Amino acid sequence: MTEKVIPLADHRYAARVPVIPAHLTAPDGLLADRLGRPLRDLRISVTDRCNFRCSYCMPKEVFDKHYNFLPQSSLLSFEELLRTARLFVAHGVQKIRLTGGEPLLRKHLEKLIGMLSELRTPEGRPLDLTLTTNGSLLERKAQALKDAGLQRITVSLDALDDAIFRGMNDVDFPVADVLRGIEAAERVGLGPIKVNMVVKRGTNDHEILAMAERFRHTPVILRFIEFMDVGATNGWRMDEVLPSAQVVERIHAVHPLEAIEPNATGETAERWRYLDGGGEIGVISSVTQAFCRDCNRARLSTEGKLFLCLFANEGHDLRALLRGNYSDEQIAAAIGLIWQNRDERYSELRSAMQADTGSGQRRVEMHYIGG
Ligand code: GTP
Ligand code: 5AD
Ligand code: SF4
Ligand code: SF4
Repeated sequence: MTEKVIPLADHRYAARVPVIPAHLTAPDGLLADRLGRPLRDLRISVTDRCNFRCSYCMPKEVFDKHYNFLPQSSLLSFEELLRTARLFVAHGVQKIRLTGGEPLLRKHLEKLIGMLSELRTPEGRPLDLTLTTNGSLLERKAQALKDAGLQRITVSLDALDDAIFRGMNDVDFPVADVLRGIEAAERVGLGPIKVNMVVKRGTNDHEILAMAERFRHTPVILRFIEFMDVGATNGWRMDEVLPSAQVVERIHAVHPLEAIEPNATGETAERWRYLDGGGEIGVISSVTQAFCRDCNRARLSTEGKLFLCLFANEGHDLRALLRGNYSDEQIAAAIGLIWQNRDERYSELRSAMQADTGSGQRRVEMHYIGG
């Protein structure tokens, strides 16, 4: 029998303990990184677990019963998350997205949403508070999420065809349940609802038109995402990426589209609208058209490590500060310094690099820091 090597959860990803600057300057919301990018968006992973096994994110062969997910004691508590979120808001964060794994698996998540919904920007505005889910528990939870103060929701959905969907989630989960979840979210007013479809050439690209047609003439905004080389376990290959330009072409051939202006700087999606008034779609082209130039996103892992890029291989251990004897001023200053030193722009540099599909430096996994 061959023995399986199981990595120790807490040593899984390298992290530095942040430096506390000698002079503590208070956050003023004007923070900029080395490329002049502000800090506006914080994505918080509330669990590294998921009940799906999408091959592009948590392939079954790796994330099996031997895999050590993080123990409860490693997770940031809701109080720690609120404290951290408050410091990021002081630095200019206006949007918080809860992710996973599957965030709806985190116990009492509504409580955290309630706590975060009370936060205000320095100008006194509420945050844009949202969540990305696979939709499997949404029908049951939509009302409670809304009542807790969640404003909107994004649901991942890769196909309408039941067999393809069951294959892609790799746990035989039926598509009808997710569709009912989306309907429940619409009913309780968690809008504008976005649906994210990761497109893998040869796996679900023939579902593009059916997906477009399902959500045309509804308020749901469907976005097509290029399959990315995130992490080191998903066996990424360029020939499985369908460039967004081709997604747009295929839909445009049947339902003519025109490009529309971005809603905000640094947005991931390029927006398009149907000429017949059928609504809006988006394409997220992180492989063929990197959008690092205006990237204002920070990511907090389930165990409180701060990552400055989706493709980072090292985090900054904020939990060490939260659980140490440090004041808010000190931690805020440490976060400020980390952001000021940020120069990550992986997708822009990707074409100049060798595609790394497992060997070499270990990159952080998507289920651990969230989309
Ligand atoms: P909205 O505020 O609703 O527009 O959301 P968003 O597009 O900022 O976030 P969402 O989590 O829906 O992002 C959709 C997908 O885009 C993710 O699942 C990732 O696949 C990809 N993505 C998001 N942020 C980044 C990023 O910073 N870099 C890269 N390369 N891809 C990203
Ligand atoms: N490529 C593109 N998007 C991915 N996601 C996870 N893994 C990948 C990948 N390899 C995104 C999907 C999913 C969200 C949770 O994370 O958009 O909906
Ligand atoms: Fe789970 Fe989302 Fe990853 Fe799929 S993409 S395995 S649903 S976290
Ligand atoms: Fe931001 Fe990194 Fe994504 Fe570029 S690759 S957009 S820097 S998270």
